[in-house]
Amino acid sequence: MPADRLLVTGGAGFIGANFVHYWTQTHAGDRVVVLDALTYAGNLPSIESLRRLETFRFVQGDIRDTALVCKLMREERINRIVHFAAESHVDRSIHGPDAFIQTNVVGTCNLLQAARDVWGDGKGTPDCRFHHVSTDEVYGTLARDDPAFVESTAYDPSSPYAASKAASDHFVRAYHRTYGLRISISNCSNNYGPYHFPEKLIPLMIVNALSGRELPVYGDGSNVRDWLFVEDHCRAIDQILRMDCVGETYNIGGRAETANLDLVRNLCRLLDETIGASPRLQEHYPDCPAARGSSCAELITFVADRPGHDWRYAIDATKLRKATGFQPGESLVSGLRKTVSWYLQNEAWWRPLLDERYAQWVQQNYKRSERS
Ligand code: NAD
Ligand code: TYD
Repeated sequence: MPADRLLVTGGAGFIGANFVHYWTQTHAGDRVVVLDALTYAGNLPSIESLRRLETFRFVQGDIRDTALVCKLMREERINRIVHFAAESHVDRSIHGPDAFIQTNVVGTCNLLQAARDVWGDGKGTPDCRFHHVSTDEVYGTLARDDPAFVESTAYDPSSPYAASKAASDHFVRAYHRTYGLRISISNCSNNYGPYHFPEKLIPLMIVNALSGRELPVYGDGSNVRDWLFVEDHCRAIDQILRMDCVGETYNIGGRAETANLDLVRNLCRLLDETIGASPRLQEHYPDCPAARGSSCAELITFVADRPGHDWRYAIDATKLRKATGFQPGESLVSGLRKTVSWYLQNEAWWRPLLDERYAQWVQQNYKRSERS
């Protein structure tokens, strides 16, 4: 089989970086070109080790730059676009929706148009695929006893982030139905694992606990999310790309529904155990409660709830399982262990992200640290 030539947008972000590591290890003969604007969420150190590979290329640029995208696609003879680039943090979307409209909606439409320009309409491009990486948040919220989201669940987004992803999904599908563009879409639950920017729940709790800072739990912590280890997400996308499934949508989930407060308590237990057993870590993280025999759980602080906070997400991934046999390889327990251990071993990756620029942004935008 001839090698594939991938354009991976957002490949310096959390899932994109994990995806290009996964892909270069599992499909060594393929060309992988990353296009990333390097916003606050994009980190070159996440993919630094790949830059020595001849098959790998990094290009800093914006998915809204049509000329650049078309040039790259022609120059590299791209036959697969795997589209991760997005503004991805719900809290940021509440404070400033514009960037979400620009990247998630305008940027995605721009990529679709570029793909159409380069690949042409209809059936002329048999090995091409535009895979759009989306989220379960497009479906809105569930009550305790509601059935899990299936692919035909009506879209009902709550946050500007979810609304912008929903809009982009609609455009991707419209380009297939109208112009025959060879697309597929996946809607995945919450990911966690290495290279996760420490503004999202799991990495934020880890780095705060290590420094003895508050662990802010929104509302009463009863909100439920389904968690998938990021490598499992990458494997699921690989399986979708391998299938002959143009025009299809697949839900991807971790079968790990957990209330936020339980998740944070589990993380605290893991940190207590790990730091409690290591004099070296106790010395390195003296402000962590576990370093003095207390529990990180004492840092848990209930703060004002996120406006429009979806109560529960749950994924029914039967369609993907039936089509490919896909099952998550990590349980939440094993995945969290790997994640905590990665953050303990990679402080050089996350420490610089807690810089002044980011702290300033938090200062200006997060008013929620007032106690509820
Ligand atoms: P992220 O915020 O960590 O990374 C986004 C990347 O996109 C960054 O590297 C950023 O620099 C880049 N980017 C942003 N705007 C750009 C632009 N205009 N042009 C080019 N690059 C740009 O996001 P993530 O968590 O890795 O999510 C990746 C994708 O997966 C997103 O589309 C997100 O909606 C989707 N998703 C995420 C999760 C999750 O739990 N993180 C779950 C389901 C789906
Ligand atoms: P997050 O990681 O932001 O992902 P998403 O909003 O896309 O699900 O948040 C996961 C859950 O954790 C969500 O219910 C909000 C909650 N949360 C907190 O309680 N405290 C926090 O500091 C953050 C960032 C999130």
